[in-house]
Amino acid sequence: PDTAVRRDRFSGGPAREFMSSLDADERIFAADLAVDRAHVVMLAEQGIVDDAVASEILAALDDIETAGHGALPDGEDVHEAIETAVIDRVGPDGGKMHTARSRNDEVATCIRHRLREDLLAAAEATITLREALLEVASEHAETVMPGYTHLQPAQPTTVAHFLLSYEGAIGRDTERLLGAYERTNRSPLGAAAFAGTPFEVDRDRTAELLGFDGTVRNSMDASAGRDFLAETTAALATHATTLSGIAEDLIVYANKGFVELSDDYSSTSSIMPQKKNPDPIELVRATAGTATGELTGLLTTLKGLPRAYNLDLQEATPHAWTAVDSVSDATEVVAGAVATADWNEGVLADAAGDGFSTATGVADLLAMSGLPFRTAHEIVAVAAETVSDDDTPEAAAAKVDEATRNVTDEPLSTYVSREDVEEALAPAASVASRDSAGGPAPEAVADELATAEVEIEAD
Ligand code: ARG
Repeated sequence: PDTAVRRDRFSGGPAREFMSSLDADERIFAADLAVDRAHVVMLAEQGIVDDAVASEILAALDDIETAGHGALPDGEDVHEAIETAVIDRVGPDGGKMHTARSRNDEVATCIRHRLREDLLAAAEATITLREALLEVASEHAETVMPGYTHLQPAQPTTVAHFLLSYEGAIGRDTERLLGAYERTNRSPLGAAAFAGTPFEVDRDRTAELLGFDGTVRNSMDASAGRDFLAETTAALATHATTLSGIAEDLIVYANKGFVELSDDYSSTSSIMPQKKNPDPIELVRATAGTATGELTGLLTTLKGLPRAYNLDLQEATPHAWTAVDSVSDATEVVAGAVATADWNEGVLADAAGDGFSTATGVADLLAMSGLPFRTAHEIVAVAAETVSDDDTPEAAAAKVDEATRNVTDEPLSTYVSREDVEEALAPAASVASRDSAGGPAPEAVADELATAEVEIEAD
């Protein structure tokens, strides 16, 4: 009877369905029970609620947990429904559970509590993917492949160097997710609606009981702040964007026959029996769209919200859930696809020198003899007009000789021997020569592999 006014007058009327977050709140059902328990234990320890009442409430919460989210009574949200379920079991004293708190600090605590798990799982997935990249890279330090800029053949590189380029980026994704975790892992509980409470609550104690690394100090910030959701979703959208890049590369490389995805990460056509399609990888590529959409929805919802609590925040939360679920799934798919794909060394070796991809190496060789790099570039650019993929190294070197005479009025041998040019035209030699730190030469890649291993271990 004492809650009749609230229930009847402010039931939401025709807008009740519209206002309810009960279904979406299933995600924080367990978190809310944990938050309720910690709050009740603290209230009892502080002498705000009798031990006997606290025990009854805790027993009711156990019972509600066993019954599950689906058994909750009607409510505007999971917090109200659980409170009603407690009162149904304990009687009016069950209403003491909501002493010295509000749904505003309660929901903020629940979201952070649940999101911690999800962030750790997302970060874990990035680490598994990095391990897969590292593993495959370590098998392919000498597997020469074409490297592209503007999707045009640019310079030969190796499969290891290519894969490690993503390992590095995803390592930063891990850091961003763990950074978001650190700031998410703070307890808003005890902030009440936003303005604190006259009860002698112990905010540090509930934070400790819930495993938080401290509190969000200012009570208005604690109940209204959602920047932790924004940075989490931004980190996920950034990671999804990285994933979309590797997905696109795998799709293009599968098209060229450089890589064959395992059957587990491929799909076929309902009409064309011969087809093997990189469907799961296409969905990974699309996940960047999903995650960016969620980030945009979230930021647009948060933009311009005044202090302190507004119900817009209820609509903000699911953006983060959708993003974390879809991006973590995509990360796992890429890890599996990378770990099980076959790199076709023969096709890669054949393609590595296509499009005069060793031209830069020849220019570098000429410049090392003392010619200005711009002159060397010009010589090789002139040669490039006639060099074709069918030329033998001897034929191509002869064209470089001719171009050198055209540009400098001197024969090639004034600067470098033809043999050295022929050597520089070989993709493997070209790769081996580029041994600057972080470069594709096998020794440089060996250093990168060792560093990456240490970093992955540390994360
Ligand atoms: N369900 C709400 C949310 O997700 C919490 C309830 C706060 N409601 C309110 N009218 N103050 O944020």
